[in-house]
Amino acid sequence: MLKDVFVPQEDIKAQFEAAQRVKEITGGGKKAYIATFGCQQNEADSERLMGLCRLMGYEKTYILEEAELIIFNTCAIREHAELKVFSKAGGLRKLKEKNRRIVTAVCGCMAEQSHRREKFLTSYPYIDFIFGTDRLHMLPQMVENALKGKKLKVYISGLSHDKFGVIAEGLPVVRESNYKAWVSVMYGCNNFCTYCVVPYVRGRERSRRSADVLAEVEALVKAGYKDITLLGQNVNSYKGEYSFPELLRRAASFEGDYWIRFMTSHPKDASKELIDVMAENPKIAPHFHLPMQSGDNRILELMNRRYTVEQYMEKAAYIKEKIPHVALSSDIICGYPTETEEEFENTVKAVDKVGFDMLFTFVYSPRIGTPAAEMEQVEHKIKTERFARLSALENLRAEELNSRFAGQTVKVLSDGLQDGIYKGRTGQNKIISFTLPQGFDEEKAAAGKFLQVKVTKAAAYTLEGEATE
Ligand code: SAH
Ligand code: SF4
Ligand code: F3S
Repeated sequence: MLKDVFVPQEDIKAQFEAAQRVKEITGGGKKAYIATFGCQQNEADSERLMGLCRLMGYEKTYILEEAELIIFNTCAIREHAELKVFSKAGGLRKLKEKNRRIVTAVCGCMAEQSHRREKFLTSYPYIDFIFGTDRLHMLPQMVENALKGKKLKVYISGLSHDKFGVIAEGLPVVRESNYKAWVSVMYGCNNFCTYCVVPYVRGRERSRRSADVLAEVEALVKAGYKDITLLGQNVNSYKGEYSFPELLRRAASFEGDYWIRFMTSHPKDASKELIDVMAENPKIAPHFHLPMQSGDNRILELMNRRYTVEQYMEKAAYIKEKIPHVALSSDIICGYPTETEEEFENTVKAVDKVGFDMLFTFVYSPRIGTPAAEMEQVEHKIKTERFARLSALENLRAEELNSRFAGQTVKVLSDGLQDGIYKGRTGQNKIISFTLPQGFDEEKAAAGKFLQVKVTKAAAYTLEGEATE
């Protein structure tokens, strides 16, 4: 555990006071817009940022043009993610020219990379400030500085990646949904998979106290939340008062009808105990995301994943054996440096053998500062060709696997009417659209309600059905 990882509560209090001063400066009644790129961790962070915005007197808006505080919460996982941010950030120039009072900021994982900070500072001078992933709780202070015309543009800890990272408890939160919620259990990553930028931009692993996590889950359940996801880059290395399986078991034992999920579990330490806890508890949704990355042992070793294909297969088989109706999903990287045709074929075979309900397939993207970026690269054309081949295989497999739900009646959490069609998710996190039989009470199918749906059709990535009483 990092030393002094918890932000002292008096520092949080100082931020609350800064928020009041911001409100006085702007007069309140303003709006804030946050663009969130990347993973659930960023989505969860953005909800805290919005909590702080509200404290400063900015209400949430989804309309960029009406915001007076604009924050880009960025992702650095692949080049494509970074390019999206750069192209959107260019649009801020005009807004700022029209209204000089607008405050603009960039945070998240790109902000932790010095070459990206450089680019923001030189090519996007209309961005008022940039802040790192462990400076999130200081937003009020930073906004106050910007409003007072301070020129300090960069707020980062400045510590090397093996030393930085904090936990800030007690921040306000404005959640996107009133029935689905993220609950971070830990931050950072210690795994250093050789392709991945996360350990450098998120710092070392640090865990929230079990009591804090459980109190947050309990409050959410009491407030009527139905789908709660425990978040961490590798939840298995959670080190609170309880082990992760025990934390999960407790999080799933509050009174009420709700689902608990978690993301993400690293195959090297997804334990049988964790799988057993899932199998025993109906409130834990039957979905397991277990990123395989490659189906070839030489590549797995180069990736520093620290498991073999055989060990992966054994865990996947245990999950499928123990948890009836489980959906297994995975991530695969195509064209990791030096990957041969034969090695990629091994991945194709492994994917075919396991049978994933959902596969997130990525073209390898070199990340500056990671070991894999220095290795001999696979040609872009070959990478994309491998990507296409794997996606085609997965489409077939997913359809085949989904057919097991046809004719079954499944529990669904409704997302309500969308463009005239009722949509929802199953425990496996599969999208399902459904109709209501004549006389069905629409209230019972509203967003955030659980209901039973009989599946009438199963395509590769969607199910269709009719609600039953
Ligand atoms: N902590 C999670 C993954 C977070 S990143 C885990 O370990 O499973 C999400 C996914 O992005 C990874 O699983 C990986 O498949 C992909 N990814 C990470 N770095 C990448 C890179 N440089 N190029 C392509 N895909 C990458
Ligand atoms: Fe990246 Fe590996 Fe950590 Fe996941 S476990 S965030 S892939 S370094
Ligand atoms: Fe992207 Fe950072 Fe998440 S790099 S995937 S937003 S941890």
